[in-house]
Amino acid sequence: MSGKPVQSLFPPGHFYSPVVDPAALQARRAELWPTHPVVLGIDFDDASHLRVLGEHFPRYLGDYDYPETLPETPELAQFFTRNSQFSWLDCRALFVLLRAWQPRRVIEVGSGFSSLLVADVNRRWFDGTIDVVCIEPYPRPFLSRGVPGITRLLQAPVQAVPLAEFERLAAGDVLFIDSSHVAKTGSDVNFLFFEVLPRLAPGVYVHLHDVFLPADYPQDWVLAENRSWNEQYLLRAFLMFNSVWRIVFGCAYAHHRFPEQVRRALAHPRGRAFGGGSLWLRRQP
Ligand SMILES: C[S@@+](CC[C@H](N)C(=O)[O-])C[C@H]1O[C@@H](n2cnc3c(N)ncnc32)[C@H](O)[C@@H]1O
Repeated sequence: MSGKPVQSLFPPGHFYSPVVDPAALQARRAELWPTHPVVLGIDFDDASHLRVLGEHFPRYLGDYDYPETLPETPELAQFFTRNSQFSWLDCRALFVLLRAWQPRRVIEVGSGFSSLLVADVNRRWFDGTIDVVCIEPYPRPFLSRGVPGITRLLQAPVQAVPLAEFERLAAGDVLFIDSSHVAKTGSDVNFLFFEVLPRLAPGVYVHLHDVFLPADYPQDWVLAENRSWNEQYLLRAFLMFNSVWRIVFGCAYAHHRFPEQVRRALAHPRGRAFGGGSLWLRRQP
């Protein structure tokens, strides 16, 4: 962000602008947010979803013991479930999958509450042996102070991080992405999709957040808030007819396709099923 006012030839909502016109989309709500969305050309791998829900969750979720709430003060140094950024099925899936996959390295792009969870899993279940690198240009106070279980914080936009950092990830390691969610000239999302993903070794797991496939972005994000995020569209095109990258688990997809299995996997005291926005991929070994 340069701080200078940004001019644009085309106003938001113009057909040449990436910012949508919510009023124009109102009339197309039923078409854009159908009850049963269909996604062409992507294999979501139902068997993999059932494996994660039926094998990994029952094995590890019993250890998930984080408080529901804590005050989000500058002194905060501990993960809690109902934080504003990384909650619901997403944080439980992250917990369970790290335990199951036992990565040696994790690189997180876009850090905050999720980093507190990764750090805690690293301390309590891996004796701090996972090398965890956080890439975050605007770190929260706890990240700047340093969190045991996080090896390094690179306080920079991911576009400024040498590619060698990502090339070090080996089969079984994790690249966790939760950054701007916007593809545009020079953006972190473009850099990650065009420079980082193609360089990752076979067997590396990649997480993307705020992915709602098979649905579109939530209606209120589009119509009320007009976020105009577009990472999910780039991801969707990337995954179409793609046999090199496979979906392992999607929180939104699992909730949409297997609500009963999600309910059982969560073993929630009030018997609830809920989804989230995490999508986990793997470059085929
Ligand atoms: C949705 S938040 C991340 C949430 C975090 N995973 C958590 O659980 O709190 C998005 C983050 O991306 C960061 N971000 C924005 N531009 C970035 C860039 N170019 N490179 C890396 N991170 C970026 C923001 O500073 C912000 O902290």
